[in-house]
Amino acid sequence: VATRPRTSFSTYSEEETRALGERLGRVLRRGDVVLLHGELGAGKTRLAQGIAVGLDVRQSVTSPSYVLMNEYPGRTRLFHIDLYRLAEAGELEDLGVWDHAEDGCLVIEWPERAENLLPADGIEVFIDEGDAADARVVSVQSRGSRGDTILRTLEGAG
Ligand SMILES: Nc1ncnc2c1ncn2[C@@H]1O[C@H](COP(=O)(O)OP(=O)(O)O)[C@@H](O)[C@H]1O
Ligand SMILES: [Mg+2]
Repeated sequence: VATRPRTSFSTYSEEETRALGERLGRVLRRGDVVLLHGELGAGKTRLAQGIAVGLDVRQSVTSPSYVLMNEYPGRTRLFHIDLYRLAEAGELEDLGVWDHAEDGCLVIEWPERAENLLPADGIEVFIDEGDAADARVVSVQSRGSRGDTILRTLEGAG
């Protein structure tokens, strides 16, 4: 099996993480899936807010932790999902989360909570602490052929 491409970015403020998210969001299109990994406070929601800007979402994006999923109109629809408080996998069925996979972009915080249920392909993002308080290392990993294209476009887009 060929290794999927992976690339890393460093950010030094929440604004830089939002800007990186915006770059990523500009590359995304309907049907894309972005999994966001990282501890509480890592910056997953900040990155998602940037992705929303890149998808031309005009509303402000807030954390969906209590509702599990927020939907925003944009260039394509954004489904911002946070599975932190997911109690059981059945809740995802009730929300119809996977029914939306083809209607827009899915951006999923805490995807490990639904490990075996996640849609294939797209990209996976890991946000880790950097070497200063506000520094983060943001690694983007492809999960399939569409993910490969997203990564190539992201790297080409400077
Ligand atoms: N480089 C950075 N990128 C993103 N957030 C940062 C950064 N530096 C500091 N922060 C702070 O970290 C927190 C990230 O919060 P949030 O995006 O809600 O995290 P998560 O969704 O991963 O729990 C915010 O308080 C933000 O101001
Ligand atoms: Mg969050």
